[in-house]
Amino acid sequence: MATRSDEGIDSLRALPLFSEVGEEDLRQLASHLIERRFPRDATLIQEGQAGDYMYVLREGRVKVTKISGAGREKILEILGAGSFFGEMALLDPPERSASVKSLDPVRVLALSRLGFLHALERSPGLAMAVIRELSRRLRHTNTDASHIPYQSVKERTKELLRRLATEVNDADGWCLSPALTHQEVADMVATSRETVTRAVKQLKQDGWLRQEGKRYRIRPEE
Ligand code: CMP
Repeated sequence: MATRSDEGIDSLRALPLFSEVGEEDLRQLASHLIERRFPRDATLIQEGQAGDYMYVLREGRVKVTKISGAGREKILEILGAGSFFGEMALLDPPERSASVKSLDPVRVLALSRLGFLHALERSPGLAMAVIRELSRRLRHTNTDASHIPYQSVKERTKELLRRLATEVNDADGWCLSPALTHQEVADMVATSRETVTRAVKQLKQDGWLRQEGKRYRIRPEE
């Protein structure tokens, strides 16, 4: 169901995407946001279709996927609360470049093409936040493209978990990843679930990783 969002300006400003948007611009933008909820395993965006909305993720996680040449689903990224997606088809129409599916029940704020493009024109702070995130994603894609053929699954799993583990424990500096199944890690590092299970076991034996339910604690860099 879609309803007009009643998110306050302060809670929107806490998001990296909106942190540098001026007061009046943010107020206008907020009036265009529409709240939508999806259950787990819903397809929010389908690769190849036309797109009219971009989304800010408020609760839950989504995976960004593409079907590879071999017909396998490759997870390009897992995005958590505070991230945004669906901007590419609005900036570079018409087609959605990938699919986006919910890994949990999710709550999103949707912004129409017109609302997004107007807000970008009015607010350099918003434009900078979008460019910064697109650069981060391109950097990651470049790293993947240059490393995957040469790195072992263990190295690729380490790199992935290092990137995704952003919550830092102040006491010992170990970082906590979001919840991930071995199959999800396998779909991100382009290998089988069994190979990831072996790599995770080795990383635990190396003392580099501890498992906490479906989440991983990662040893800080020396
Ligand atoms: P869009 O192409 O409209 O729909 C699919 C969305 O997935 C896309 O916009 C981006 O928001 C997101 N997306 C595509 N590729 C990546 C990537 N490599 N990393 C993170 N998000 C991505």
